[in-house]
Amino acid sequence: MDGSPMNRNGADAPFYLPEGDECEMFEQAFAHTLPLLLKGPTGCGKTRFVAHMAARLGRRLYTVACHDDLTAADLVGRYLLKGGETVWVDGPLTRAVREGAICYLDEVVEARKDVTVVLHPLTDDRRILPIDRTGEELEAAPGFMLVASYNPGYQNILKTLKPSTRQRFLSIEFDFPAPEREIEVIRAETGLSEDRARMLVRLAAKLRDLKGQDLEEGVSTRLLIYAATLIQSGMAVERAILAAMIEPLTDDEDVKRGLLDLVTAVIG
Ligand SMILES: Nc1ncnc2c1ncn2[C@@H]1O[C@H](COP(=O)(O)OP(=O)(O)OP(=O)(O)O)[C@@H](O)[C@H]1O
Ligand SMILES: [Mg+2]
Repeated sequence: MDGSPMNRNGADAPFYLPEGDECEMFEQAFAHTLPLLLKGPTGCGKTRFVAHMAARLGRRLYTVACHDDLTAADLVGRYLLKGGETVWVDGPLTRAVREGAICYLDEVVEARKDVTVVLHPLTDDRRILPIDRTGEELEAAPGFMLVASYNPGYQNILKTLKPSTRQRFLSIEFDFPAPEREIEVIRAETGLSEDRARMLVRLAAKLRDLKGQDLEEGVSTRLLIYAATLIQSGMAVERAILAAMIEPLTDDEDVKRGLLDLVTAVIG
């Protein structure tokens, strides 16, 4: 259960198609022990990217989905009663710090203030994790890396990271893959034909144009993959698109009708 190198060459790494130099940036951050922040819309490949890079670098990955009930103790650890005895149990962040693993905090803006406070001494050159409850002060093992992500789009203005937190991270902006790459991702994930993958991506471009007008968020790569999965298993194209690319985007009947007209125009 240590974070020692497993598959250094990344032969078993989950499939990830790079969009730019993000893999090199991740490797640089890892090599220089700098924390990394990934910004981008939902379903554009951030989690897949981190899983891919962790495997390539041969590091264990601890992923924490942040939410507003998440406390510092959930990350760091707590005393628990076990068979009449009180024992200390490390949280995922502490395990990563001890083992030299990668800790990925998904949707970090959702986390409460006491959580970000815990991160500060870890994200500057001290690289330490003070554990108040046990009196320990852990120095991060070699190979420890902190990665966080958030979606700058749909949160309200109040829910953004404090400058003192965000200025501790190298940051990369993510977006949906460019059309040719998104086609390749859909095909690799589902085996859908090129023609049909191209049609889904063309439709996605039209739906993404509506962001900020009729739609809060553009359709994600994740949803395109859902649609492709349904079509690939024999479902009628219109039905698959309705369930995977229209209903998840809106509850407004008028908007839905408008989107369906768009579908008809694109798939003919
Ligand atoms: N560049 C890519 N290479 C390979 N797969 C990709 C790529 N981009 C997106 N995907 C696919 O899209 C799916 C959704 O991506 P992922 O779960 O990583 O999104 P996310 O950005 O973490 O979203 P969220 O913010 O909602 O957590 C993945 O399961 C994967 O199939
Ligand atoms: Mg994710």
